[in-house]
Amino acid sequence: MFMKVALTIAFLASWVQLVLGAPVASIASLEKRDVFVPPVLYPHAGTVWTKGQRHNVTWDTSSAPVNITNKEGTILLRKGDLTTPLILATGFDILLGRIEVTVPWVISDTDYSVVLFGDSGNFSPQFQIIGSEL
Ligand SMILES: *[C@@H]1O[C@H](CO)[C@@H](O)[C@H](O)[C@H]1NC(C)=O
Ligand SMILES: *[C@@H]1O[C@H](CO)[C@@H](O)[C@H](O)[C@H]1NC(C)=O
Repeated sequence: MFMKVALTIAFLASWVQLVLGAPVASIASLEKRDVFVPPVLYPHAGTVWTKGQRHNVTWDTSSAPVNITNKEGTILLRKGDLTTPLILATGFDILLGRIEVTVPWVISDTDYSVVLFGDSGNFSPQFQIIGSEL
């Protein structure tokens, strides 16, 4: 009985290690394959966007490696700690350094940010969206 419990624990422990260990290892090997996480330059803290306006989201491509694993970018809207499913732009070349987006019709608030995804996600600082009674 005791043996069986010990074996079960050993089995669970190795399984947990497998589950937790595998992604860490694959992230590490991905990073060797030129993961590119460009910092978002605009919008930044203090930016105010009005609903319906168009703006260029910009990011720094100066540290781009020669061979990028995923060149296609996607920008999502984030509010507080939550990345929303709202796509502002997708399917663009991450090496462009900018992409024009239309400010979506969302509740006015001060804790919006954008997330730029290429190989990996990168948040902008929080900024404000205004323009309706809400
Ligand atoms: C975005 O940038 C492009 C290239 O600099 C420019 O032609 C365009 O007018 C900009 N769009 C806005 C909304 O500022
Ligand atoms: C980038 O990829 C090309 C084509 O696969 C290859 O010839 C080149 O050596 C790679 N460069 C680097 C710096 O990894």
